[in-house]
Amino acid sequence: MLEEQLIDSIKEQGALTFEAYMKQCLYHEDYGYYASNTASIGQSGDFSTSISIGGLFGQLIAERLYQLWQTLPQPQQAWSIFEIGAFHGQLALDILNHLQATYADCYQACHYTIIEPFAKLQEQQQATLKAHEYTHWFKEAQQATRQPRQGIILSNELFDALPVERLIYQNEQWQLIGIDYINGEFSQTQLPINKSPYADEIEAYLANITFEPVDGYELEFSPHMPTLVHDISSLIDDGHQLHIDYGFAQADLLHPDRYQGTLQAYEQQQVITDYLNKSGLADLSCHINFSQLKQAVENQRWAPSVFIDQSAYLTINAQSWFTQISMPPTDEQQALIKQFTTLTHPSIMGKKFWVFEATCGRITPIENPFKSLNKLHYLA
Ligand SMILES: C[S@@+](CC[C@H](N)C(=O)[O-])C[C@H]1O[C@@H](n2cnc3c(N)ncnc32)[C@H](O)[C@@H]1O
Repeated sequence: MLEEQLIDSIKEQGALTFEAYMKQCLYHEDYGYYASNTASIGQSGDFSTSISIGGLFGQLIAERLYQLWQTLPQPQQAWSIFEIGAFHGQLALDILNHLQATYADCYQACHYTIIEPFAKLQEQQQATLKAHEYTHWFKEAQQATRQPRQGIILSNELFDALPVERLIYQNEQWQLIGIDYINGEFSQTQLPINKSPYADEIEAYLANITFEPVDGYELEFSPHMPTLVHDISSLIDDGHQLHIDYGFAQADLLHPDRYQGTLQAYEQQQVITDYLNKSGLADLSCHINFSQLKQAVENQRWAPSVFIDQSAYLTINAQSWFTQISMPPTDEQQALIKQFTTLTHPSIMGKKFWVFEATCGRITPIENPFKSLNKLHYLA
């Protein structure tokens, strides 16, 4: 059981930093929510995602991938889609099915490579994608350097699932939030920042706070985002990155009003607060800092190009699909229209999720279809 492992760790080393706790909860090889393949996503699971509501999301992302493919230096030659963190492989399946059915030349040259650290998830992904021939798996980006180096790096809800350090401001100083085990119960405690292996990065991040926080103000810091961006950015010489996630620009995230941080725990479609009693059984995630993502990408000499909400992004990608809808729509089309509404409605998923794109290398310039709605300047 994960609880026993956590108790042993706390007995050995004292209270855990939140990052160490969250890493075990999500990624302990045998008991972690994702790594052990315990996670249950979808209507009957712990939470829904853009993918779990149906295949339209993957279809509309594939439409954009097709546009981006046309900008590659040698589109007819082998090219890569690198998906980072693919859970059960459903997004990959929806994308590949659409490319195969709609854009044969693009599909035939495509090598779909998944970077997934966990064996149980890789097995599941391989089962999902068994009908597609040019699919490849690696545990980490450094092992995938011989794949075609023109293409697109893709992720959906990857960065929100990386372990974070949590911080709290009290009595005019910042402390880490840690997890202890006292009198037979897990509880929150406070630790000095130097207990974190990421102390220097945390201090640098806290220097971005330009206001006096109220007592009890909480925030999160993602130490793994920059390293992961560093690793995945080296997969491609010529091409694009496309990341979809929920989060905010830094000015909106590190804001006086957001005093409770953004950590959320989900079980059976409910936000739960007693996640310390459900270690390894509930999803834990945080809203991401898209300004930090932009900076991490720029540090690898990529050029950020798009930041736009999912509603606008998918609506623009849906132009050719709209023209295929008959009047009145068929039952199948009605079902897709319902998915479209869920994905794009401002109060459901449309304004919660954002899309970030960046480019590098030799790219044929095309008109940016998101130009008038591009909010990249928010991330300054
Ligand atoms: C929340 S799930 C992503 C969901 C999936 N992309 C989807 O849209 O259904 C997070 C995924 O990222 C993977 N992951 C976590 N850390 C990773 C890392 N360092 N490199 C690559 N994948 C990672 C997890 O194993 C899991 O497959």
